[in-house]
Amino acid sequence: MYHRFFKLKELPFSLSPDTDYFFAYGHYANALNTLIVALRTGEGFIKVTGEVGTGKTLLCRKLLKTIGKNFTPVYIPNPQLSPHGLQVALAEELGLSITRYTHRLLNNITSRLMDLVKTGQHVVLCIDEAQAMPKETLEALRLITNLETEKQKLIQVALFGQPELDVSINDPAVRQLKQRITFSYQLEPLDQKGMEAYIMHRLRVAGFVGAQLFSQPALDAIHKASRGIPRLINILCHKSLMAAYGQGQRLISQTHAQLAIKDTHDLELLDLNRAQWKKNVWWLSASSALFATMASFATYYMVH
Ligand SMILES: Nc1ncnc2c1ncn2[C@@H]1O[C@H](COP(=O)(O)OP(=O)(O)O)[C@@H](O)[C@H]1O
Ligand SMILES: [Mg+2]
Repeated sequence: MYHRFFKLKELPFSLSPDTDYFFAYGHYANALNTLIVALRTGEGFIKVTGEVGTGKTLLCRKLLKTIGKNFTPVYIPNPQLSPHGLQVALAEELGLSITRYTHRLLNNITSRLMDLVKTGQHVVLCIDEAQAMPKETLEALRLITNLETEKQKLIQVALFGQPELDVSINDPAVRQLKQRITFSYQLEPLDQKGMEAYIMHRLRVAGFVGAQLFSQPALDAIHKASRGIPRLINILCHKSLMAAYGQGQRLISQTHAQLAIKDTHDLELLDLNRAQWKKNVWWLSASSALFATMASFATYYMVH
């Protein structure tokens, strides 16, 4: 790919939630710090919402990585589970053998949590894509969080989800769960200044040592088209770099950014139906024209 041409050690705008790239700026830093404080003070139940691509999964991973050695993280990426399925997933993550008897399973989970608390370990259950959780499972989750000693909760929960999560937990059937939530955070898109710092941060992590790679008009165009949503920023920056590379140019111009924007049909789709993104293979959606320009220069660059 283009990274050697721009003197980078790797691709800077991958879509995988790589915690090495975490940008602790503005609301991201606030969210991370507040989540850490909430869990360390045993707050019990927290909720983070944000539109697709605003950084929930990365924040969740960063939280689990930063929280400290007294915490045992349990990460559930896909919560489309039945109530029993949730208990099974939790039991598996805690290294327990599985039984189909719900009561016995809950007992086993409770005694494992008690043992962990005795050794000073606090279990944090992080549920990503929580908006997809069926209501009965949300209720089962509440029952799990009932487990406590006289002094403290045996398990803390962090829910990460799209704004529909707020609709689910407003349902009268799960209102007790809503009352349980002690702390909520909403992730917002980046403003222009934040986006510019975000792009430079990712470039630096990828090894960029120069002063500027994106021209101001290119940055303006990318902010307008992405509306400050990190996933869209990544896609547009990646494609802009491809376009500039294809022309053998080392400064990203407005034209390169416009080519990237034109090539990204998903910008509107994302808004309309929150299309499921094919993580990690997203650059395959670059049009063949953009690839062809890039490939022709790539051949030239490798030969010379
Ligand atoms: N704070 C951040 N620092 C660095 N990169 C981020 C940040 N927030 C989001 N991203 C990047 O944006 C993309 C989308 O983030 P992701 O966590 O998958 O969003 P969501 O889970 O909300 O859909 C990923 O490539 C991620 O690395
Ligand atoms: Mg996610």
